[in-house]
Amino acid sequence: MKHLIDPTDLSKEEIDQIIALAQDIIAHRERYQGSMAHKKLATLFYEPSTRTRLSFTAAMMELGGQVLGFSNPQNSSAAKGETVQDTVRVLGCFADIIAMRHPIEGAPLVASEVSRVPIINAGDGSHSHPTQTLTDLLTIKRELGHIDDITIGFCGDLRFGRTVHSLIKALSRYHGIKVVLIAPDELRLPDYIKLDVCEKMGVAYRETDSLDEAIPELDVLYMTRVQKERFLDEDEFDRVKDSFVLDARRMALAKPKMAVLHPLPRVNEILTEVDEDPRAAYFRQVENGKLVRMALIISLMEWKNDPEHTMPEHETPIVNPALHCTNPKCICNNEKHQPRFRLAENGIMRCWYCDSKVR
Ligand code: CP
Repeated sequence: MKHLIDPTDLSKEEIDQIIALAQDIIAHRERYQGSMAHKKLATLFYEPSTRTRLSFTAAMMELGGQVLGFSNPQNSSAAKGETVQDTVRVLGCFADIIAMRHPIEGAPLVASEVSRVPIINAGDGSHSHPTQTLTDLLTIKRELGHIDDITIGFCGDLRFGRTVHSLIKALSRYHGIKVVLIAPDELRLPDYIKLDVCEKMGVAYRETDSLDEAIPELDVLYMTRVQKERFLDEDEFDRVKDSFVLDARRMALAKPKMAVLHPLPRVNEILTEVDEDPRAAYFRQVENGKLVRMALIISLMEWKNDPEHTMPEHETPIVNPALHCTNPKCICNNEKHQPRFRLAENGIMRCWYCDSKVR
């Protein structure tokens, strides 16, 4: 069964096919109306969302399909203690494909292990957000004309920003990518992305805490919100919440064709005075989200049992009672799942579900 849990579940060729299909949908919208007639998408959102849930809904509606699900787990049997796996077993009786957002990292992965229909990870905690990645790649392609050979700056909350982690993973498969990581010390990119993705895949990256210093060299500036809901310590959030603000003065330092992306919602990291700048691509990016999700739904429905489109081969997980995942937001610490691990770069042991470094 083909699922999308992590950006690396799609080969570069599959990503390029989805982006090409999205571009064909843009050119020939009428050809795809009705392509999902009599099919149903379930949206299981255990965490708030505006863009992701409603763009999935709009995408399925434009394809002639129907949508069911919940946007608040308190209105589902999760409130009575039903597990993620039992919930997707149930929804597999009602729907042809499932999009799931969950605050607990690894929840869509365990869902995919028992599901008889494709599972799409619509964001799990601070971990991964692969459909935002497809949105971002389509936006870069439409704004710049190419994805290869770009310098992209990620600015703000690189520690908790799942969209950043997923986009760096996907970009690591493209040619000539240079990454500038712009963040205060408290919000730096997790080591597993630097080691297991950038260093392993040969992506050139550097870190700075100055947006003014970095902005002149960028082709894409990817702004992010500091994610209050992920902090365990409110004082730490208060210290970093206004670290970087993009305004007209800073835009004047940038290239004439630089594209500004933001997964949204924004709080105050981009002033509204930037919105009318032609380089501000973040509302065009929202529309691309619906288009690329149309392409993804069509693709996964075609690929779900196609031997040409299997899930990537993973090494056998390591089971060792002496090892523990210490991430309180990991599914293995919230539901009864056997702790599993994998040996990553530099001999570091990581949790199978959430990628945290393991003791
Ligand atoms: N970009 C994004 O995931 O937005 P929502 O949280 O509104 O879905």
